[in-house]
Amino acid sequence: MKRIGVLTSGGDCPGMNAAIRAVVRTGVAGGFEVFGVRRGYQGMIDGDIVPMDARSVSGIINRGGTILHTARCMAFMEPDGRARAAEQLARHGIEGLVVIGGDGSYRGADKLHAEHGLRCVGLPGTIDNDIGGTQYTIGFDTALNIAMEAVDRIRDTADSHDRLFFIEVMGRRCGFIAVMASIAGGAEEVLVPEEDCDITTIAMRLQLARSRGKTSMIVIIAEGDELGNAFTVAQKVADITEFKDSRVSVVGHMQRGGSPTAFDRILASRMGVHAVEALMEGATGMMVGIENQNMVLNPLCTAWERKSTFSPDLLRVSRLLAI
Ligand code: ADP
Ligand code: F6P
Repeated sequence: MKRIGVLTSGGDCPGMNAAIRAVVRTGVAGGFEVFGVRRGYQGMIDGDIVPMDARSVSGIINRGGTILHTARCMAFMEPDGRARAAEQLARHGIEGLVVIGGDGSYRGADKLHAEHGLRCVGLPGTIDNDIGGTQYTIGFDTALNIAMEAVDRIRDTADSHDRLFFIEVMGRRCGFIAVMASIAGGAEEVLVPEEDCDITTIAMRLQLARSRGKTSMIVIIAEGDELGNAFTVAQKVADITEFKDSRVSVVGHMQRGGSPTAFDRILASRMGVHAVEALMEGATGMMVGIENQNMVLNPLCTAWERKSTFSPDLLRVSRLLAI
């Protein structure tokens, strides 16, 4: 194998650039020619493939987003789309691929490997921290810090007006960002998809907190919660309590942008190095993860078969400290 490719796919996350840099430089140091596939699997199908060298990734470790751009690509879900993508890689002589993305991108890589023999290694890049086979995904720490900062800022205005706020954070179907931000921001209540909670219980807890002398209150809602989005939950609470004048704030895509934290830069750098080294050693159909500070390799399917979830202790700590 002489040529490898690198791509980012699915939702972007802070730290993707640090991962690209690590892949390119490790590849170059190992004697490979490295190619960047732009716009994820869509760019692969379109042949949007460019040579990269050590200098082409200068000055990006601190930058959010992805210099390779990313995309969601329906055509790649079909065998024909993957065949066209494999043809483009073959035209460029690319035999190994590092895919930086979430479990959807891994599913695509797994099929590319199974159907066309391409050697693929995945790096977990998503703010959601919802991938099995790794304790942390690239981007999660940065997104969490942005969510925490949002909670801090809203606390100032909530305190000033003695108000109840509902803050919605991202995470798709995973409450990792929500529960961690609730501890870090000292929220009064947190709603996550991993836990069934009815509106009456939430209302009772808020009333109890008010009776204990809390003037401002913050409820964090993971976007995937079954009770609904932050606006719906605020309305449901208003319907059955005296909290008629609450405010809602949705942190949204701010969590996906901006300069990555030191943790994410280091995680991305280590994972990028290990991904290329794994390819050099003949690994394929594998993903890189971090477990107890060590880099580990697991089959790509670990990402969706062993779904990552947070410890219930985090919810317990969040609520215990909210008295
Ligand atoms: P993420 O990688 O962040 O989970 P998506 O789920 O949107 O993001 O997946 C990114 C892309 O990966 C999709 O747009 C598609 O091109 C490809 N993909 C996702 N799931 C599959 C699948 N089951 N088979 C083939 N390709 C897939
Ligand atoms: O997977 C990352 C993520 O930001 C999720 O937290 C969120 O549900 C989704 O992507 C939003 O996707 P889009 O980019 O389509 O708005």
